[in-house]
Amino acid sequence: MYQQSISNPDAFWGDIAKSFYWKKEWQNPVRRYNFDVRKGPVKIEWFVGAETNLTYNALDRHVEAGHGDRVAFYWEGNDLNEQSVTTYKQLLDQVSQLANYLKSVGVKKGSDVTIYMPMIPELPAAMLACARIGAVHSVVFAGFSAESLAGRILDSKPTVVLTASAVKRGAKPINLKAIVDDALKKVETQDHSVKTVLVFDHKLAAQRESVPFVEGRDVWWQDAVAQHPTQCDIEWMGAEEPLFKLYTSGSTGKPKGVEHTTGGYMVGAATTFKYVFDYRPDDIYWCTADCGWITGHSYVTYGPMINGATQVLFEGVPTHPDAGRAWDIVDKYKVTLAYTAPTAIRALQSFGNDWVTKYSRASLRILGTVGEPINPEAWKWYHEVVGDGRCPIVDTWWQTETGAHMITPLPGATTLKPGSATLPFFGVEPAILNEKGEEIQGEGEGYLVIKQAWPSCMRTLSGDHNRFETTYFKVYPGFYFTGDGCRRDSDGYYWLIGRVDDVINVSGHRIGTAEVEGALTQHPRCAEAAVVPVEHPIKGQGIYAFVTLMVGTEYPPPPELKKELVATVRDVIGPIATPDVIHWAPGLPKTRSGKIMRRILRKIASKEEDQLGDTSTLADPSVVQTLLQLRGQ
Ligand code: WTA
Repeated sequence: MYQQSISNPDAFWGDIAKSFYWKKEWQNPVRRYNFDVRKGPVKIEWFVGAETNLTYNALDRHVEAGHGDRVAFYWEGNDLNEQSVTTYKQLLDQVSQLANYLKSVGVKKGSDVTIYMPMIPELPAAMLACARIGAVHSVVFAGFSAESLAGRILDSKPTVVLTASAVKRGAKPINLKAIVDDALKKVETQDHSVKTVLVFDHKLAAQRESVPFVEGRDVWWQDAVAQHPTQCDIEWMGAEEPLFKLYTSGSTGKPKGVEHTTGGYMVGAATTFKYVFDYRPDDIYWCTADCGWITGHSYVTYGPMINGATQVLFEGVPTHPDAGRAWDIVDKYKVTLAYTAPTAIRALQSFGNDWVTKYSRASLRILGTVGEPINPEAWKWYHEVVGDGRCPIVDTWWQTETGAHMITPLPGATTLKPGSATLPFFGVEPAILNEKGEEIQGEGEGYLVIKQAWPSCMRTLSGDHNRFETTYFKVYPGFYFTGDGCRRDSDGYYWLIGRVDDVINVSGHRIGTAEVEGALTQHPRCAEAAVVPVEHPIKGQGIYAFVTLMVGTEYPPPPELKKELVATVRDVIGPIATPDVIHWAPGLPKTRSGKIMRRILRKIASKEEDQLGDTSTLADPSVVQTLLQLRGQ
């Protein structure tokens, strides 16, 4: 199938697409694209002329086929004994009611809607309600700060925001509504106003009475939505009309709004789900990702639902109330397919095997991982201890931008190697380039690029097609540039090495160094900051910040200042961007033209100062000694 997908992509994807419902067929050829900036603007189109709707494919089609009673979600709350079951028919009704509500407050085809919610069934339902009526959803992970949320709202300018009163993560309650209120205050100072905030009353996390409400703007979800009919017409969408935006960190500037469209994304997300998890109708699938990330889009809301899968939706953290929670959930719901991130695997591994072996886990069939390179030790533990050596591991490499799995094993078909994402999925033609941009044949290491368009490729960056071309297509003209380093071994297997740009992968989440630097400099005493990744035993990479204080400061300053700086970053971006180390830097290593030499900072951060290399090009080579003296202070 892979050979066919590369030699005749039109025929291959045309055949695959026949298993979906299309209101209107596409015109041939199936794909039209230009990846080469030298030949004109970058443009990617699939299934031109066709019309479909993802929600119809994810819900109505299954209900119409008589599967309305099949469970869509087994929801497992943060605390033990909080649970609910939603069938496909019930979900269809809920989604339709919500879609009708959205229409009643003015949401139309093409409108933007921001979603800031915890992992409750209403979150994927909200995404599906938008898709049903052609509204473009932008889900913001409900761990981002008010300021991050405000930035994303200001970029897409929705008139409606969907949220919940609060959420509990482990033992800690978080007042989501208060964060939304703060964000909207900031938004209003920038001349945009959100007309409606629909608030899900999450009774398990907060008392309704304690939630502040803005008269005329805020509405309780349960009161408003239930009054709407459970029938809602489908908005048939052109294959290239937008489905969603999702903001992700880049190496510079503010987060980028990655835009995905309808037809290609649907085919990509659903087809990868089907093959990569070898999906069968009696499977119980559990993906631990939050819908605030691309994994939750493609492998909670869309891919599994379009396949009619039954899934577990977990609101909490796998170590609450204890380190056995994940395996307890596996046994409780007889999970067959489990999909998580290396950081979670390493965290659970650190509690010891007894927490795992105390549960049966006999239902497990396939284990998946995503988000960052998985170290072979964690891979082996996942395989041998969690899966009792029975379950293939699918190490899936892909990105927000790619929409769906790109390099991944097919369970049962691909011989596995611990730590390698193995081989490309159907239709994906990777290449490895050297520094000069020349393609390396056979074995070798360099920059990972993709040679031809695949269906679920993003189409543009929100409002900035220029940045889209510059970031992904101008680096090596003719190729899609992934931003990842990669090695290909003598068997043709791909080994992802990590980001080659200024993006840090913290627990599988992308954080731009520039964003953290920008946040640090919001503290009145911070003059300049330079942030680099550092190896971290659980998180994969941690955030290491060199901070220069305002002129006149004595080093080291009082210890509280570190706490204040860390708190500033948490306020500005969110807890996921918490710096692990603050290293005082009276001066930063800069070239004579003023460019910070991050290579040197990376070596200092990882305690490899014996490998600093040539420092003679520094404007002031003595800063290195000063930095080394201030380590740990
Ligand atoms: C990294 C997450 C190695 C990579 C789906 C990529 C991985 C970035 C893997 C995208 C993997 C993701 N092995 N590295 N299996 N999966 N990555 O956009 O650096 O949040 O570029 O998408 O995560 O992160 P994003």
